[in-house]
Amino acid sequence: MGVLSPETTIFTRMSALARQHQALNLGQGFPDEGPPDFLIEAVTRVIQSGFHQYAPMAGVPELREAISKKIFKNYGYRSDPEKEITVTAGGTQALFTAIAALVQPGDEVIIPEPAYDCYAPAVELVGGRCVFVPLNEKTFRPDWNIISSRLTEHTRMIIFNTPHNPSGAVWIEEDYAALSALASQHPFLVLSDEVYEHITFDGRKHIPLCTLPSLENRCLSVYSFGKVFHCTGWKMGYIVGGPRLTEKFRQVHQYNVFSVNTPLQSALAQALENDTWFASLGPYFQRKRDLFISWMQGSKFHIQPARGTYFQLLQYGEITPEDDLAFAERLTQEKKLTLIPVSFFYHRREDHRLLRLCFAKSDDTLRTAAEILCSL
Ligand SMILES: Cc1ncc(COP(=O)(O)O)c(C=O)c1O
Repeated sequence: MGVLSPETTIFTRMSALARQHQALNLGQGFPDEGPPDFLIEAVTRVIQSGFHQYAPMAGVPELREAISKKIFKNYGYRSDPEKEITVTAGGTQALFTAIAALVQPGDEVIIPEPAYDCYAPAVELVGGRCVFVPLNEKTFRPDWNIISSRLTEHTRMIIFNTPHNPSGAVWIEEDYAALSALASQHPFLVLSDEVYEHITFDGRKHIPLCTLPSLENRCLSVYSFGKVFHCTGWKMGYIVGGPRLTEKFRQVHQYNVFSVNTPLQSALAQALENDTWFASLGPYFQRKRDLFISWMQGSKFHIQPARGTYFQLLQYGEITPEDDLAFAERLTQEKKLTLIPVSFFYHRREDHRLLRLCFAKSDDTLRTAAEILCSL
């Protein structure tokens, strides 16, 4: 058997089941609403005035400039748009291309689990070896002792994800300090999946790993416009990192996609001038999280409120002994509500009796979902 599973992803599978049973789909991670008006208007303007041919390989210069300004404004970090920023066809392409560019056959890549599903197949496809390590069972943040114990002379890369899908965990200061300490002892590279960078709650703040002095020239951070502008179907994103890694990234990128959708790049460059949008995302989704959790009072689910992202884990151990896939399928078939079984985020399908719910949905949808879940 090849390295790629012949199965479709759990997201495709559960969404198909949701359609078949006309169930409310709070499984796959996409928002109910579309992008903000100022972005739609920018796209319309741009499409009407041209911009239909190939963009430069690394991305439209105005967009790279705008991204660089955004990074400075949000994180106080100066990045060179020429040498450190590349526009990609979404976060997934950025992750795949980075792995293909930096991992050689025989290299070890540490992947903390549960993990988003596209990392391991990419590592295996280029001949790398995945070294899976568990995240802390309660906090879902890295266990630095375990990571440290798994570093070898073959370790090429560690893939991190904060804010974290599926758990909603967000790194705290201790994590950044522990990573910096480890980086001073070992020359691993870091690939940092930060597609939920602006969706953090209760005053928490995300810090991009590519801005850490301890990871200078050793880290690429990945972002998705789909996640921050409610347009996951556009598949637009970017990757940021030091010139040496960016150069290697572009060597693959130029043959992988060559360049990315020109009109959307130009429109996104204009939309990034909006000064207030990103700061509004945390409060917007925090309100939804809080509403949903308040409606779940009295349910038998155990809920540790998400600290970021638009995902909430629901522990159902008190409700049924069924495994998470069986429970998720039954919920879809009998109760017309679709959630994602979290065992699919573990390479060995570890079952912790957890389901993942996406709360980037209308208040009415969230209320209906909570009513169904409270009836269990
Ligand atoms: C953690 C994580 N990384 C990457 C992606 C992919 O981003 P994109 O849709 O821009 O490819 C997702 C999408 O759900 C995600 O949750």
